[in-house]
Amino acid sequence: MNRDVIIACDFPTREETMNFLGRFGDKRPFVKIGMELYYAEGPAMVQEIKERGHKIFLDLKLHDIPNTVKRSMNVLSRLGVDMTNLHAAGTVAMMEAALEGLTRPDGTRPLLIAVTQLTSTSEERMRNELLIDRPLDEVVMQYAKNAKIAGLDGVVCSPLEAGKVHDVCGKDFCTVTPGIRFADGDVGDQVRITTPAKAKEIGSDFIVVGRPITAAEDPLAAYERCMAEFVG
Ligand code: C5P
Repeated sequence: MNRDVIIACDFPTREETMNFLGRFGDKRPFVKIGMELYYAEGPAMVQEIKERGHKIFLDLKLHDIPNTVKRSMNVLSRLGVDMTNLHAAGTVAMMEAALEGLTRPDGTRPLLIAVTQLTSTSEERMRNELLIDRPLDEVVMQYAKNAKIAGLDGVVCSPLEAGKVHDVCGKDFCTVTPGIRFADGDVGDQVRITTPAKAKEIGSDFIVVGRPITAAEDPLAAYERCMAEFVG
C-alpha cells in the first residue's frame, strides 16, 4: 500500500469546499468527504471533486442489515470513489454483503475499510452502556480480524494501534488513521494523537488530517509538511 495523506474536508457547503481546494493550485490531494458535506451537497459534490482529479475517501460509515448495506454499497460503487467504509459492529455477514454490493460488474471496487470502535467510545462506556467487558484494544483487534475474515481491505484506527493491527492482520491489511497533529500544533478535541512522522514509524498506511490543514493559515504548506513527514 502506498502511504498517503488524506485531507478531511469537513465543510458544510460546496462553496467552502471548493474555495479550500482552490488554495492547492494544481495539486490534487486525496480528500475525505464525510457525512456533513455528503448530506448537504449529495453525490454531485463527489462527482465535482472527482472530476477535478482528486482521489476520494467517502466516509459514510454504513451500519444496517446486510441486504440494505449491500444495496446501498451498490449505489455508492457507481460514484467512482477510491475508498469507503462501514462499521465492523455490523458483523462479518454485513461486511461480506457490503463487499459484494460494492464490487462493480467489471470486478473493480473502491477499497473498503471498517471502523472498529469509534475513538469517542471509552472503555468505560463500552462496558456500562454496550455491556462489552473486554479491554478496548482487544475489541479493536477482534473487529479488525472480523473485517479481514470478511475480505475487507483494512480498518480505521488510532495511529497508536496501527502497528498492532498489522501484527494481527498482516502488513497488507491497511490502516487508515485520524488523530494526527503536528508536534507544535493544537490538539483540539482529539485524545489519542500522534504526529505524521510518528504515524509513519508505527506503520499507518493513510493518515486522515483535518484541522491541522483545513484551519491552517496556509493549508498548502501544512499539507506539504504532512507529506514530507509522512511520505517523503
Ligand atoms: O480535524 P481532525 O484532524 O481532528 O479531523 C479528523 C477527521 O477524522 C474528522 O473528519 C473526524 O471525523 C475523523 N475521524 C476521527 N476519529 C475516528 C474516525 C474518524 O477523528 N475514529
